[in-house]
Amino acid sequence: MSPETRTAHPLYIARIRPVTVDAVTITFDDPDRVIGGSAGWYVIVRVMVEGEEHRRAFSLSSTPELAQPPAITVKRHPGGLVSRHLVERAREGDVVEVEPAVAGGFDVGISTGRRRTLYAFAAGSGIAPVVSIIRGVLALEEGSVVHLLYGNRTSGDSIFAGELATLASDHPGRLRVSRLFSGRGERIDHRAVDRFLTSRPPTTADVWYLVCGPPGMNRTVEARLRSLGTPDDRLLVERYQPPHRDGAPTPYDGALVRLEDHDHEGTAAAGDVLLDALGGPSSPLYYACRSGVCGTCRALLVTGDVDPGVPFALSEAEQGAGVVLTCVARPLSAEVVLRSLPD
Ligand code: FES
Repeated sequence: MSPETRTAHPLYIARIRPVTVDAVTITFDDPDRVIGGSAGWYVIVRVMVEGEEHRRAFSLSSTPELAQPPAITVKRHPGGLVSRHLVERAREGDVVEVEPAVAGGFDVGISTGRRRTLYAFAAGSGIAPVVSIIRGVLALEEGSVVHLLYGNRTSGDSIFAGELATLASDHPGRLRVSRLFSGRGERIDHRAVDRFLTSRPPTTADVWYLVCGPPGMNRTVEARLRSLGTPDDRLLVERYQPPHRDGAPTPYDGALVRLEDHDHEGTAAAGDVLLDALGGPSSPLYYACRSGVCGTCRALLVTGDVDPGVPFALSEAEQGAGVVLTCVARPLSAEVVLRSLPD
């Protein structure tokens, strides 16, 4: 995928609202409705930091089905260049380049005719796409019920806690929120999942499960739900950080990485992913999240050997066909030849 194949729209920041001490919700002015999308979709935001363009994927925290203007909720991460820029330096009236919303794997298909029970497990900023869906389900699916297990370090870290309380009181019996605080030693682990599900039996035949949090929580909850027999099409897991991997092979320092269809090449410094070796922002490859999540940086491995990292966005079939995510894959051989893939 080439950078020029994606269009970004310059949108004014209409509003910046602090939601915790280190997180803000940024609402964009989108009079022509160019962003679109549905609850649970994400957008790619292009931000200039110190003269260089950086792209990141953010879940919509707004609910397009309710005609809300597009909004993202950004939590400042200590090493996060873009998140720190948006939380600390962005101002209302600034213009930011935003691409139209993209469907990931976190779309429940909100529709007025549906009647279902949704169990949602969220922690930290993972609440953003979950609250987007909860708002839409409560407003538009009158027969549906949502149970949310929401984890944070402390109550002061809890994004959307106030809105969730309001939604629960505005929709009696249709939203129940249980809170856990890791600062008190509470965790969303197997036992917490079991207690949560047992105490809230489903009230419909159609039951859905949503999971969005840090990698460890996602893994734990997904494994438990799968062991309980949850069908694939009812279990949606949204990932926004790659997990740490122990025992990864040592990358080849100084490998030549070539993108053959663009006649472009670069050299990998120690620990570089393929995308960095190709020049990062100046690479002909398009990219966004740099976390193996959005799938935009995919390329075909033509020759050479790579450590694929954790390519969340690739299916097993794609991995078997030699597709790699250049933002997480690292070279293991002296030369790696890639070919870009169509959108
Ligand atoms: S940039 Fe998102 S998967 Fe590589």
